[in-house]
Amino acid sequence: NAMLSWQRTGYHFQPEKNWMNDPDGPLFHKGWYHLFYQYNPDSAVWGNISWGHAVSTDLIHWLHLPISFIPDKWYDSNGVWTGSATILPDGSIVMLYTGSTDDLVQVQNLAYPANLSDPLLLDWVKYPGNPVLVPPPGIGGQDFRDPTTAWAGPDGKKWFITIGSKVNKTGVSLVYETVDFKKYKLWDGFLHEVPGTGMWECVDFYPVSTVEGNGLDTSYNGPGIKHLLKASMDDDKNDYYALGTYDIVKQKWTPDNPEIDVGLGLRYDYGKFYASKTFYDQNKQRRILWGWIGETDSEAIDLFKGWASVQTIPRTVVFDKETGTNILQWPVEEMESLRQGGNEFNNVKLPPGSVVPLDVGSGAQLDIVASFEVDKVALEEATTEEEEADNTSYQCTTSGGASSRGKLGPFGLIVFADASLSELTPVYFYITKGPDGKIQTHFCSDESRSSQAPDVSKEIYGSTVPVLAGEKLSVRILVDHSIVESFAQGGRTVITSRVYPTKAIYTAARLFLFNNATGVTVSASAKIWHLNSADIRSY
Ligand code: FRU
Repeated sequence: NAMLSWQRTGYHFQPEKNWMNDPDGPLFHKGWYHLFYQYNPDSAVWGNISWGHAVSTDLIHWLHLPISFIPDKWYDSNGVWTGSATILPDGSIVMLYTGSTDDLVQVQNLAYPANLSDPLLLDWVKYPGNPVLVPPPGIGGQDFRDPTTAWAGPDGKKWFITIGSKVNKTGVSLVYETVDFKKYKLWDGFLHEVPGTGMWECVDFYPVSTVEGNGLDTSYNGPGIKHLLKASMDDDKNDYYALGTYDIVKQKWTPDNPEIDVGLGLRYDYGKFYASKTFYDQNKQRRILWGWIGETDSEAIDLFKGWASVQTIPRTVVFDKETGTNILQWPVEEMESLRQGGNEFNNVKLPPGSVVPLDVGSGAQLDIVASFEVDKVALEEATTEEEEADNTSYQCTTSGGASSRGKLGPFGLIVFADASLSELTPVYFYITKGPDGKIQTHFCSDESRSSQAPDVSKEIYGSTVPVLAGEKLSVRILVDHSIVESFAQGGRTVITSRVYPTKAIYTAARLFLFNNATGVTVSASAKIWHLNSADIRSY
């Protein structure tokens, strides 16, 4: 345990050692899911950025493969940075990535598999004509990175990509047109821009169906869709998205609601989550999202551990037809193959101020599906001035965490707790009610008491979550040694916590239900599975 090895995850993807950041170029080819990632082969801190590579047949069990790209050319000698894959109609694969040149200028480079018939895609060729794109006039040499997957125009010959940048403090995304991925034409203006948001990293752009439940190929265009635009904000290190309409003739995207434009409104995840990327899985007709969970301890500890970072569980992304305003994220169904045993707790009554242990044995690797019902009469009658004040002022991040009590919250689950509750991470709902009787539901994850270790950041995360008439409050939580991924209301609001328990580890990690509201009794039901570890092998 000297190396803090209990923090290693059981089923979240991570390299065997050293530093990882963004997911890169995910794709499905000849029966294998490929994940590439920003990787430092030499150390547990960022640097010497190369592309690590792993494959899986089910997105859960992984085979680590040799590094795909190292920084060995003038046009990427300061790093083979983030990029995306495009699968062309003939099955060939195009990889576009950012190179940081020997002069630290950001350029876009082209690469392709040396042998497309190799399911493992072990060998890659960098196009001899690289770089294929350099920063255009008006764009800073260090503000031009992370090309998206390309999408085809209606003629099937022209392809488009978008690349994030900034102009002064305005976040922007440039559009390029290409036929062969070697020569490009820059479109005038931007796909979209949002003043004040700063540099857009790792832009992602794709259609979601408003009528069907399946995912859509990135090139799909037509009726019954919206386009989602995502940018990773360099200034605040969060991934923001918005839904809107894409005009392929003008190469412009317009948000449905300018008030919740990219960077102003919705986030994929309200916890530790950044530089995400989706791909269309043609194997199962779904869109899958990967996100980078960085460390929130110190670099010194990471160096001591010898590794840093984890990827989220791959999540399917669909449009939320019920609300019409957001997407839903959900762990890929393959996750469920790791479930073992299963404990059920039905209608557990949680009076105000109660903490109820759930005896499930070790709480280090769990899949929890829980729902909560709030006493309706109490909910209706709660209209005190105190509560009115709450509705306008309550925010997970600033309102004192799970120990701060209101009439209608907080209540939820406590994960990574030791028996004496000296360490604990509550994941909870908090209901507020306005003067007009309008109810708002908040969903939060409180790390403030998660660890007795020094030098680790302990945040209180969260946001609001839409709850429609007649719906119970529901949550799915994936617990994995030092990761808590929580999905509220079917994945409308998601929070990832990176925590470093020192006591609530392995079999000492316990699980509790709690209700810290003063004015309502909550009835909770939960189904809980242990999760087996993923089978991760080295090549
Ligand atoms: C995002 C990012 C990208 C860049 C890469 C470098 O985390 O900064 O913009 O391509 O990481 O590792």
